[in-house]
Amino acid sequence: MSLPTVVVTRRLPRKVWNHLTAYARVVCWEADGPVSRGWLLDHIAEADGLYCLLTDQVDQEVLQVGKRLRVISTMSVGYDHIDIQACTTRGIPVGHTPGILTETTADLAFALLMAAARRIVEGADYVRQGKWKEWSPDLLLGQDLCGATLGIVGFGRIGQAMARRAQGFNMKVLAVRSPAQVSNSPGSLTSEGMSSQEQVRPLLEYVDLQAALAQSDFVSLHVPLTSRTHHLIGAPEFQLMKPSSVLVNTARGAIVDTEALYQALHRGTIAGAALDVTDPEPLPASHSLLTLPNCLVIPHLGSASVATRARMAFMAVENLLAGLRGDMLSHCANPEVYAAR
Ligand code: DGY
Repeated sequence: MSLPTVVVTRRLPRKVWNHLTAYARVVCWEADGPVSRGWLLDHIAEADGLYCLLTDQVDQEVLQVGKRLRVISTMSVGYDHIDIQACTTRGIPVGHTPGILTETTADLAFALLMAAARRIVEGADYVRQGKWKEWSPDLLLGQDLCGATLGIVGFGRIGQAMARRAQGFNMKVLAVRSPAQVSNSPGSLTSEGMSSQEQVRPLLEYVDLQAALAQSDFVSLHVPLTSRTHHLIGAPEFQLMKPSSVLVNTARGAIVDTEALYQALHRGTIAGAALDVTDPEPLPASHSLLTLPNCLVIPHLGSASVATRARMAFMAVENLLAGLRGDMLSHCANPEVYAAR
């Protein structure tokens, strides 16, 4: 029996490659950087499965050319780069990688929060630029985390992991469960629906988005990018925030209106931003955000630890292989495809 054909849009770790090639004929984009659109369209017609990354747009055109596709698997928890509705209509299950990058991403979000609060990157630049001549009582003063309030917008796995870190630092947490749905419904913590590991201790309150923005010293975004969360944070939202507040985004760039963010930082509507994700992404070196000393930008490193990236690649291949066998994917972004079968 001939092996199914799989298109892979980035070179895989050796072990993962060996695992996949035992069960599939693999056509892989071998060049550095994201796959070219032309190459993807040239090869997708012969593919039974697609292994892709968050940098690859899997839209109607790719799906139309990819007539044989039976499964798509992305090495990411987010799947806003894939037209899920079109996949569901075609009956194509889409695999993704939730859970295994939760702690790694929360670590990075908290590191950004701390770096912005204590002006770590500005301090490092100051030393490198040879400006450090003496100790000074008012040099690069930042903000304390202890006693400060952290607004967490989106209280799924990563939002909850962020809350645990914040509570270790004695911060108060204001959690917004679902900004698109929850409004004016403050409440206190319930453990319903959380595993014992995910349960968080007191000092946490559920509030709506407006209250979180108005009352927080730091606001960290943890919602997926959807049509409802696109530009969730724009000019009116910045107006609600404290002038001393800092925005942290490790979710998706387009959740924030970039122009409104630039204006808010430039005019002092808010004090700072620390971004792992941007819109556009990658952010060009000439972008206006990078002219602002109060804006810290890093290149989408949320899940970038050696162990987590290896786990993500493995899980993505497992999802792909399950789809090729006709089995249900363990981590499926559109499980409704199975109901229709
Ligand atoms: C994801 O998996 O969606 C993350 O953004 C990668 O860090």
